[in-house]
Amino acid sequence: MLLTIDDLLANDEVALVRALLDRAEWSSGAATAGTQAVTVKNNQQIAEDAPLLPELRRIVLAALNRSPMFFTAVLPHRIVPPCFNRYADDADRYGAHIDNSMRALPDGSGYVRADISATLFLSDPADYDGGELVIEDTYGRHEVKLPAGSLVVYPSSSVHQVQPVTRGERIGCFMFIQSLVRDAEQRRLLFDLDMELLALRQQLGETPSMVRLTGVYHNLLRRWGDT
Ligand code: NI
Repeated sequence: MLLTIDDLLANDEVALVRALLDRAEWSSGAATAGTQAVTVKNNQQIAEDAPLLPELRRIVLAALNRSPMFFTAVLPHRIVPPCFNRYADDADRYGAHIDNSMRALPDGSGYVRADISATLFLSDPADYDGGELVIEDTYGRHEVKLPAGSLVVYPSSSVHQVQPVTRGERIGCFMFIQSLVRDAEQRRLLFDLDMELLALRQQLGETPSMVRLTGVYHNLLRRWGDT
């Protein structure tokens, strides 16, 4: 499932993140790519030991944690700490690849299975040309280029790429999430059910049937979810 979440970060948070990133040093993005991906990856990232990284991560993770749409669409179990990247000049693209399935946690404490990938756009689309995130799945090819502060989530199993940036710079943040529900179809069913429950609750209030249907949602999540 490909889903966008508008304005995950408020404007003042985007400004704060961008101000922090203006003071950070960019290094080659090859450090976190797998064997296949590294051959097509040509961008820059904030190094893992950069002093500003914990504060940047705290801002993004806090925004994810307060978003009900992120929770119900992704059902997050574990999130690899977000990384920040830049496409500009000679480091301007990331060719077609699939994200590694197992992502090492930077503190060495283990691995997170990447079920869902997410990109948080941090540049105004008017400030650069190109740089679309292109995602191919069984429903075809999708080009995504969102306002600063908006997020797209998509299956880590999809082939995707970032088109060359031909003007300006594209700053972004990316992360990988292990879901409480491993199976994408089950996750989709739960999302659809939750959205319809939300709509019905607004129309009807908490009727006895709503209580039972909400129970069905949670009992499916209990059946399919693992912590
Ligand atoms: Ni990727």
